[in-house]
Amino acid sequence: MDVSRLKRSWSLVAAHGDQVPLYFYSTLFLAYPETRQMFPTNMAGQRDRLVTALGHIVSQVDQVDQLAGYLQGLGADHRKFGVQAEHYPAVGEALVATLRHFLGDQWTEELAQDWTAAYGLVSKVMTEAAQAAEAVNPPWWVAEITGHERRAFDVAVLTLRPQYLLPFTAGQSIGVSHPAVRAWRYYSPANAPRPDGTLELHVRAAPGGAVSSRLVYGCAVGDQLHLAAPVGEGLTLWSAGSSDLLLLAAGTGLAPLRALVEQVAAEGSHRRVDLYVGARSRSEFYDGDALDKLAASYPWLRVTPVVGLDLNRPGEFVHPVDRALADGDWRSRHVFICGSDDMVSHSVAALTRSGYHAGQLHHEGLGQHWYGPAWRTAVDRPAATDDSGGAR
Ligand code: HEM
Repeated sequence: MDVSRLKRSWSLVAAHGDQVPLYFYSTLFLAYPETRQMFPTNMAGQRDRLVTALGHIVSQVDQVDQLAGYLQGLGADHRKFGVQAEHYPAVGEALVATLRHFLGDQWTEELAQDWTAAYGLVSKVMTEAAQAAEAVNPPWWVAEITGHERRAFDVAVLTLRPQYLLPFTAGQSIGVSHPAVRAWRYYSPANAPRPDGTLELHVRAAPGGAVSSRLVYGCAVGDQLHLAAPVGEGLTLWSAGSSDLLLLAAGTGLAPLRALVEQVAAEGSHRRVDLYVGARSRSEFYDGDALDKLAASYPWLRVTPVVGLDLNRPGEFVHPVDRALADGDWRSRHVFICGSDDMVSHSVAALTRSGYHAGQLHHEGLGQHWYGPAWRTAVDRPAATDDSGGAR
């Protein structure tokens, strides 16, 4: 198999931009209409998730060994879309038809054979992993909404009860989808695992976000959601030993960090925890009551709200990290950060300048979308393992 030929041919095809997924999906749905219901209800205008990744990954088949872990995760994760082993040849056919269409007279019998073989190898890793995962997890969990509170115009706190226990660790993220929307988005539960298995999600409706808007504006108690297996370890306590913690949260990035507080409480350990919670204005502290209750219950916990915009200082924005660094020296602690990409970058830069080292800073990968942009990192830098998830 000539891998450089595969890569070259893929970059020629990819240069056709949005035409490529359009052709791919038309071909797939025409020949195999049953696959349509696996994809989001509204695909118009959505950024393509599958086709670009598919071409890129398959044309990097020479790295299939380094990519094995990523592809196994991807294969197991594909069960949440309802994908079965028999669907792989259908996607393979649509991929080859798309390549043939865009390559025109540059399409050769050798290329056809190389693409088919490469797709076969990648599919094999994914389907075997999906089969192995069957013994461990269901493809998805059905969960009922048992609580839905609008805490701000665009923020809702949902309580969910999965039909079967969904095991996770505080700080991990779980996939969430509404059956009517069928797109998936990852959220970190705001609680440590509870005996009754319920989960609390903090959701901000993102502009244009089909899932988040549905969860905030279009859901009620009694509705059912689908959940997918937990992912990520960047925000878990696994690599923090027994050290004291500094937690920096902004917006609904509070969720996984509140879960960590609950986890520390459940461990009964003697760590000290300082939680700085940022919001643009006072009215945006949507979880004040729960935080007050935690702070009142645990003497080892201190919670500091940080209002970003100060009317007396127009044009300046105060991040939780700015306040924390002004308050003290936390270099003996592990620091967990969750918020927007900007907030995380700002925090990491400020902490690094102040002498904190990378090993004590914990956060999600920037721009992380599980198995989404991650594929580019996984493919181009197979050794990168900075994967984590969380609510934004
Ligand atoms: C070699 C085989 C395949 C590879 C490398 C692959 C790769 C990917 C990747 C990287 C994503 C993005 C995931 C995310 O954003 O969370 C994705 C999404 C998806 N894949 Fe696959 N895939 C493969 C085969 C299949 C097959 C056989 C099906 C079944 C028809 C399928 C259905 C989907 C669906 C429904 C999505 C979600 C699309 C969306 O939300 O827009 N994939 N795939």
